[in-house]
Amino acid sequence: MATARAPAPLDRAMSRQRLTDRVLAARSARVASDSVRTRRVVQAREGMRVKVDGQDLLNFCSNDYLGLSQNLEVIAALQEGAAWHGVGSSASALVSGHGSEHAALENECAEWMGYPRGLLFGSGYLANLAVMQSLLEPGDVCVQDKLNHACLLDGARLSFCELKRYPHRDVEAAMRQLASHKDGAAMLATDGVFSMDGDLAPLRDLALLARAEDATFYVDDAHGIGVIGPDGRGSTAVANLNAREVPLLVLPFGKAFGGQGAMLLGSEALIGHIAETARPYLFTTAPAPGMAAAMRASLRLIRGEPWRRAKVASLIARFRRGALRAGLPLAESYTPIQPLVLGDNARTLAVARRLEAQGFLVGAIRPPTVPEGQSRLRITITAAHSEHEIDALVSALTIICSNPQTAEA
Ligand SMILES: Cc1ncc(COP(=O)(O)O)c(C=O)c1O
Repeated sequence: MATARAPAPLDRAMSRQRLTDRVLAARSARVASDSVRTRRVVQAREGMRVKVDGQDLLNFCSNDYLGLSQNLEVIAALQEGAAWHGVGSSASALVSGHGSEHAALENECAEWMGYPRGLLFGSGYLANLAVMQSLLEPGDVCVQDKLNHACLLDGARLSFCELKRYPHRDVEAAMRQLASHKDGAAMLATDGVFSMDGDLAPLRDLALLARAEDATFYVDDAHGIGVIGPDGRGSTAVANLNAREVPLLVLPFGKAFGGQGAMLLGSEALIGHIAETARPYLFTTAPAPGMAAAMRASLRLIRGEPWRRAKVASLIARFRRGALRAGLPLAESYTPIQPLVLGDNARTLAVARRLEAQGFLVGAIRPPTVPEGQSRLRITITAAHSEHEIDALVSALTIICSNPQTAEA
């Protein structure tokens, strides 16, 4: 009987795809579809004024919604935290990296939001990976809005559970997806404010659904916390939901808090389990103590100085009035995220470039960050902008978008 011959090493080498060839082909495809992404070096920053490639620009693509990243009290807290506790935390949280600033921030956030316990992560991305990897397993289901942030999707993938995605804000579709999967545990996860659209999730209906279906409801409020709701408590406070109705809530600090990291809030049982078992919590260095101190300062300002929220709200209203008058394609968003959906990549890039030539830095967001055919300018409005700057942006947009050259680009 003939036996199969093992392939000679040379044959194997010849059939294998080379990674370099693959990435070069992918790069060519991105060039052809105007999807290349490049980093820019921000050489200087003062409020929303930035210097990029030697050019002074007004930044309309920052998530620093309250302008706290450059607030002197927040900066002083960071410096003092580093002076007292060192720059790095020197170990993972469960070894010796969890210090008094981290613990105080966890307690203060939990008290503020009315949750039993907080757990501090180095980023929102890590927190989302941790929640799903540690709580869900094969046989479980995680039902998510199609427009959820990428890290919620990645978290579900890391848990090897079944991931189901319902059309944007479609509670009935979510209900069907949960109802069709009765084995194993279930999680219903959504952004509170959608990062590329600025609209709010139907949180009250989703909370009711989660309760009816015995699913754990999980909200990521990266873009709502600090900016909307009573006391700046975000989208769940706008929906008047409490810790019983939203048993798990994550508050990333990279946006309105003006820093870095994320606070996960939940019950003793859920948070305790995540703290002991989540690989993205266990196997990473704890956040810098100075950053924890800075985020405590941001929390004090968010709670104690509501004028920043009021100012953003009034600038958003001003932008929307001007943009509506000019016939710009506004979306249904009343948060600092004001997308102008232009459709194709080339036109979006062309408009962004023209804006830049006139002194405005605006993000041109293209697939895969947004669905195909929905490329957009993601304009963000912050408390560090002025009325005059909002009016200047609207005027520039009006002229550029009505110019036939950019209309056809
Ligand atoms: C909804 C949402 N969740 C999580 C993240 C990630 O948070 P971080 O930047 O802290 O990793 C982002 C964006 O960065 C986001 O928009």
